[in-house]
Amino acid sequence: MRLGVNIDHVATVRQARRTFEPSPVFAALIAQQAGADQITLHLREDRRHIQDRDLELIRELVSIPVNLEMAPTEEMRTIALRVKPDRVTLVPERREEITTEGGLDVVSSKEVLKTFIEPLKGAGIEVSLFIDPEEDQVRASREVGADAVELHTGTYANLWNEHRFKEAEEELKRLERAGRVARDLGIRVYAGHGLTYQNVKGILRLKGIIEELNIGHSIVANAVIFGFERAVREMIALIKGG
Ligand code: PXP
Repeated sequence: MRLGVNIDHVATVRQARRTFEPSPVFAALIAQQAGADQITLHLREDRRHIQDRDLELIRELVSIPVNLEMAPTEEMRTIALRVKPDRVTLVPERREEITTEGGLDVVSSKEVLKTFIEPLKGAGIEVSLFIDPEEDQVRASREVGADAVELHTGTYANLWNEHRFKEAEEELKRLERAGRVARDLGIRVYAGHGLTYQNVKGILRLKGIIEELNIGHSIVANAVIFGFERAVREMIALIKGG
């Protein structure tokens, strides 16, 4: 499986102070250097983490594929057509949510999505839809012309984190079934959301079906923790060294 590294929450820390650090652009370059297959970022309508300039710089400086997550709005499509990421992943977006909750309801917005997607595909951008692992959503994604689906692993991740392993196992089966339907229809299958260093292990069993995982929060969380000691030592050396 490939790994797309989502760098949104590096920007979340920066935006907490509206300052220049930590830079998601640096994080993207380090992820690339470390062997990531893709950089994933979500430009939200309220710009709570990633800013337009981050996207532009990442597009310019990063040489691995760039996957832009965005809501299906006119504003975002205009930006995507200008910046031309390798892939656009359409996600539902609500201002009050903490993170993307639930997948896109493709079934009930087929006509709108079909019209929305066409110019993106016309510009050579791969289009993926972030959906719950449900067969009807997969079929609708195919009908609207999506190249791929990203299956929402949030339910699986939450169940696993709450140690409800039997239910997590059922959710894995749901992901597997949805993935198989997508592959039979000839569309690519990715997955992500809520995956951690612990719960990712179950998902790895679906490696014949899921080609790629997009993981963000847990990687950023671990980077903060593992990098903390070094950061403190360097500041002490600076203060006491002189
Ligand atoms: N995939 C999609 C479509 C997402 O919206 C997100 C969160 O922005 C992720 C993957 C990454 O999720 P997490 O930060 O929980 O790893």
